[in-house]
Amino acid sequence: MANKFVIIGGGSTQSPSILEVLRQRSADLDMNQLVLYDIDEERVSLLGQYTKMYYKETGSPVHVSYTTNLEEALQDANFLFMQIRPGLNKQRAIDEKICIRNGVIGQETCGLGGFSFAMRVIPDIIAIIKKVKQICPDAWILNYTNPEAILSEAIYREFPEAKVICICDMPISIEGAIAQYFHKDLKDITFKYFGMNHFGWWTSMIDENGQDLLPQLREDVQSGKIDTLAQWNDETLDDQYWIDTYKRMITIFKRFPEYFPNCYLQYYLMPDVMMAESDVNFTRGDWVMQGREKRIFTECRRVLKAGTAKGSSLNSGVHGNYIVDIANAIIHNTRERFTVNQKNNGAISNFDPDAVVEVPAYIGSMGAETISIGKIPTFHKGLMELQKAYEKRTVDAALSGSYQVALEAVVLNKTIPDYHVGKKVLDELYEANKQYWPELH
Ligand code: G6P
Ligand code: MN
Repeated sequence: MANKFVIIGGGSTQSPSILEVLRQRSADLDMNQLVLYDIDEERVSLLGQYTKMYYKETGSPVHVSYTTNLEEALQDANFLFMQIRPGLNKQRAIDEKICIRNGVIGQETCGLGGFSFAMRVIPDIIAIIKKVKQICPDAWILNYTNPEAILSEAIYREFPEAKVICICDMPISIEGAIAQYFHKDLKDITFKYFGMNHFGWWTSMIDENGQDLLPQLREDVQSGKIDTLAQWNDETLDDQYWIDTYKRMITIFKRFPEYFPNCYLQYYLMPDVMMAESDVNFTRGDWVMQGREKRIFTECRRVLKAGTAKGSSLNSGVHGNYIVDIANAIIHNTRERFTVNQKNNGAISNFDPDAVVEVPAYIGSMGAETISIGKIPTFHKGLMELQKAYEKRTVDAALSGSYQVALEAVVLNKTIPDYHVGKKVLDELYEANKQYWPELH
């Protein structure tokens, strides 16, 4: 048996790290074919040609191709890695600016930036999965597309039986930093986590001796021994945004010491600081466009012009490793533990069983079997209930096209202070996204 892998959104700036890990581990994965699919002809052909050259010159036996034809890409596919971005980072930056100008969070997964991105992406993802069900119904879909929290809610609602696992590399990145901080091997720590994507907490972190490291971490934070975890995540050290984010994560833990927080809770629990630090003239979307995006496509062009990928390299890293590890767990039925987004179905006993939550699961050839978390405290539950209501209403709005429902979703978002601000931002976002959102009525 040989596996065909397809990257849906192959022209993404997130592709290179996945492409590199796939190349390194193609024998384990039994991968004989790799297809980059994208609707953006220019980007997919740049990254596609680059990858072909790079794989060939490094002696990879994998057949690489690229296409803008989805049907062709899906034919006989076994694994689909999805990471699409309708409107590109350009639209991301437009949303951020609308939000910031109105004094609210515009991040692309949290606050109304996330709402807008969800409205752009939900219809496209649903259309793609429908095609998958027709053309390659047995293929596994591993979804990285954001905003993962809302999108996973839409996917599992529309396709309860589909072979989809919705994932994010943020929990594992933070776990990696925690492991490094304690001078431990990540594989030796068992993490227990609950919440929704970009919105969760660790309840325990048990080391190889059965000891929970969370009390020690709490003590080190409370005593002032550490005020950040940034230096224990080597991948983000050249990026001030992540350095600050990892510091704020510790500030939040200090303020709410019961459980260890996912760093993107900064947008909900420290919005004052996030707003004070945001620059309407240069947002994260601008940063990505001028940094990562420019760098990757400039390098593709340089390599194609030179006619050789010698001296060029794709970076592997957590992002690529995580998705490939999960594919590997499915292929070889390893039953390793990963944190994923799945229907709650009782994992958090005092939370809506139909809601999608982010919890650890054992992954094997049957997919994800989630781990029981039990009852969660009122503080975390309260935050989650509000956020989940917002997420569900956002999915309802994207699927129904109802303006009134969209307005309810917006007002439910914790970052929105009142009806007037919510409505104004909603109307401006709609105007700026007419080409992408479903028509509202
Ligand atoms: C983290 C998040 C992702 C996000 C990524 C890149 O890994 O989990 O959801 O897409 O960061 O963010 P950036 O702002 O660099 O595009
Ligand atoms: Mn994520």
